[in-house]
Amino acid sequence: MTMSPDGWPLAEPYKTKMIEWIRLLEPTEREAALRRAGYNPFKLLAQEVYIDLLTDSGTSAMSQEQWGALMRGDESYAGSVSFQELERSVGDVLGFPLVLPTHQGRAAEHVLFRALAHPGDIVPNNLHFDTTKAHVLTAGATPLDIVIKEGEDPEGDYPFKGNLDLERLETLLRDQGDRVPVVMATVTSNNNGGQPVSLENLRAVSEIAHRYGKPFFLDAARFAENAYLIQQREAGQASRSVGDIAREMMSYADGCTMSAKKDPMVNIGGFVALRDEDLYRRLRDFGILYEGYATYGGLAGRDLAALAQGIREAVFEPHLSYRVAQVAQLHATLREDGIPVMSPAGGHGVYIDAGRMFDHLGRDVFPGWALSVELYRERGIRCVEIGTVLAGRDPGTGEHDYPPLDLVRLAIPRRVYSQAHLQQVAEAARRILLRRHDVPGYRFTYEPPTLRHFAAEFAPLG
Ligand code: F0G
Repeated sequence: MTMSPDGWPLAEPYKTKMIEWIRLLEPTEREAALRRAGYNPFKLLAQEVYIDLLTDSGTSAMSQEQWGALMRGDESYAGSVSFQELERSVGDVLGFPLVLPTHQGRAAEHVLFRALAHPGDIVPNNLHFDTTKAHVLTAGATPLDIVIKEGEDPEGDYPFKGNLDLERLETLLRDQGDRVPVVMATVTSNNNGGQPVSLENLRAVSEIAHRYGKPFFLDAARFAENAYLIQQREAGQASRSVGDIAREMMSYADGCTMSAKKDPMVNIGGFVALRDEDLYRRLRDFGILYEGYATYGGLAGRDLAALAQGIREAVFEPHLSYRVAQVAQLHATLREDGIPVMSPAGGHGVYIDAGRMFDHLGRDVFPGWALSVELYRERGIRCVEIGTVLAGRDPGTGEHDYPPLDLVRLAIPRRVYSQAHLQQVAEAARRILLRRHDVPGYRFTYEPPTLRHFAAEFAPLG
């Protein structure tokens, strides 16, 4: 049992005021739903799902303060009161004076890379999230992942597997600096398990980037979880507040892109925040073109108001300590039951190494996909494969572009599920492990040419 710091069993730091019913379909109904969905969890209907761990993005529960703010949203086209609240909130919590709202994180990336990246450029990042990578590529530039080597090892318990490799960064800037428009770091690093970047590493990256005259931006979707993990894991940080640590993280950066659907706990929203007035003007031109006027950026005034409140709540420590403990508890239970998980536990979810769990399945029959189907079949749980199906095909050879691991991500929405729900998830995984040799692989019956995981259909083998 996970304990609170005061030695009592862990409990939610909130009580429920409004509820949404969920139902576990009968096994025969789940089987029919899977068949209808072409064995693709993306094609399941929400009401067919019992526990939905597809993503922690836009799926969190808002607080009464956020719902209250929503009712006060100012819908003025320009200069709304809600935008001013957002500016104050970004200034207070993140320390950036300028903010350009966008409808979500990838729109912030779009605006940033339209302004900064050009054909032939190279953009270094610890690990680019998929949309960031796609925007760098769309600008004709090359995304370069430079996470430390510990970050590629699913097992070791290194505390900051999101850190950037400083030597590789320095070499890149020394040898090809003229091709680098911006240095990025993703906090936390989603692609290897929600792993944090240390303050020490952020400070060093900032120093190197600035020595070569390059702006340093954070992909800050999970900045508060990163700050909390710094408080818990980095030497000398235990007595500081998360808010203080978050501000220090941001102090090393020139700006950030934000998907506010994660740590700031809104259902839609994002922004670019920064310090430099000239760069802000350049971004604003693209923002107005793609997202709408500079003080609303694709969002309603009420969305801006809920976001302004959500940013403040993101660094609320009782929330973070419960949330991260909840993720760590699921991670620990799965590990004790012999299920191979990426370690240490990260901020927003648990990643199962399905390739190892289903070592009877070859990679060409998609063990990660098989586990995502099986979790639904066993207990109505929806999650996402981060493996061979997601990676797609190599455009040159037409073969599967095998990633290092076939993973399944169990992403935990914020303030939505209880410990009892997550025990259901752990129990489902345990039962699947016991009967793993009966779990089939899958073949495509329909394979879309791009982004195949969203719309593909499959049939079980054997
Ligand atoms: N950056 C990171 C680190 C992300 O995890 C995401 C989205 C984005 C940027 C893009 O933001 O969705 O608001 O446009 N991640 C979601 C996920 C989709 O499920 O991890 P967005």
